[in-house]
Amino acid sequence: GGAFEPKVFKPEFKDYQAVYNEIAKLLQEHDEYDDGSYGPVLVRLAWHASGTYDKESGTGGSNGATMRFAPESQHGANAGLINARNFLEPVKAKFPWISYSDLWILGGVCSIQEMMGPKIPYRPGRADRDMSSCTPDGRLPDASQGPRHVRDIFYRMGFNDQEIVALAGAHALGRCHTQNSGFEGPWTFSPTVLTNDYYKLLLGSKWQWRKWDGPKQYEDKETKTLMMLPADMAFIEDKEFKKTVEKYAADNDLFFKDFSAVIVKLFELGVPYTDKSETFVFKNLDE
Ligand code: HEM
Repeated sequence: GGAFEPKVFKPEFKDYQAVYNEIAKLLQEHDEYDDGSYGPVLVRLAWHASGTYDKESGTGGSNGATMRFAPESQHGANAGLINARNFLEPVKAKFPWISYSDLWILGGVCSIQEMMGPKIPYRPGRADRDMSSCTPDGRLPDASQGPRHVRDIFYRMGFNDQEIVALAGAHALGRCHTQNSGFEGPWTFSPTVLTNDYYKLLLGSKWQWRKWDGPKQYEDKETKTLMMLPADMAFIEDKEFKKTVEKYAADNDLFFKDFSAVIVKLFELGVPYTDKSETFVFKNLDE
């Protein structure tokens, strides 16, 4: 190039790994949150950034990070995700070259791997957009509904029944908060470790309606400490969904393999990749 050509920083694998390491380090340091980890809420941010995708119009998806702006930040489904966005602000300040859209997805990838989940291959290439690209309310699933609604929402993104069930296994992580969704409690006994426990509990526990003032949710009869949403119950109410629940309950390796594949698909919905886009597989902090 000529002498006066501006030097453009082209991040490589090592640069993205440095961002990964920074997020992983902050996850360890900030163990004051919830069950000791920001991991679950970071996974939820990456999912809600991606899950607005509409395959017909090509709108929504993780490309844009439009949840930074109202009205999308104010959508009921996104309540509480400010905690995840704020957690990532110091990372953005330290690595200003990464887009918010790529950073939020990297936050999800890092959290899944650091919570002992499978490797999640990552492709950067998302560009931030302005508030004119905010999606309309109502694109994310409504937890009080059943199989029909769950299918409508995920078919709109382009997923099939097996993929929907694989994605739902993420509810092994984290919990519901009355101040966010109105629902309350965790799905599993180890909400900061990814396992196939969600499926095992769906099939293996007795579920009854919780008697309380809050929205209709299930509790496990034995300990009354775990919960299922009406939309979670869809996966055993529906015969087709239930077949896949049984496969994942019996085989954690199969769940990990399918979960990794389907979450990569979710995170890449609507992202305008080129032939030159590279895929990275990050080392965990302890590797
Ligand atoms: C949390 C609904 C699918 C990941 C939640 C909460 C609700 C919910 C109501 C509680 C939010 C709160 O009160 O803080 C649903 C419904 C789904 C669905 C109705 C589809 C039928 C998914 C998918 C993923 C996911 C596909 C990821 C792949 C999570 C995680 C949390 C969560 C990790 C815990 C967040 C935390 O601990 O702060 N979900 N979800 N969910 N969801 Fe889902």
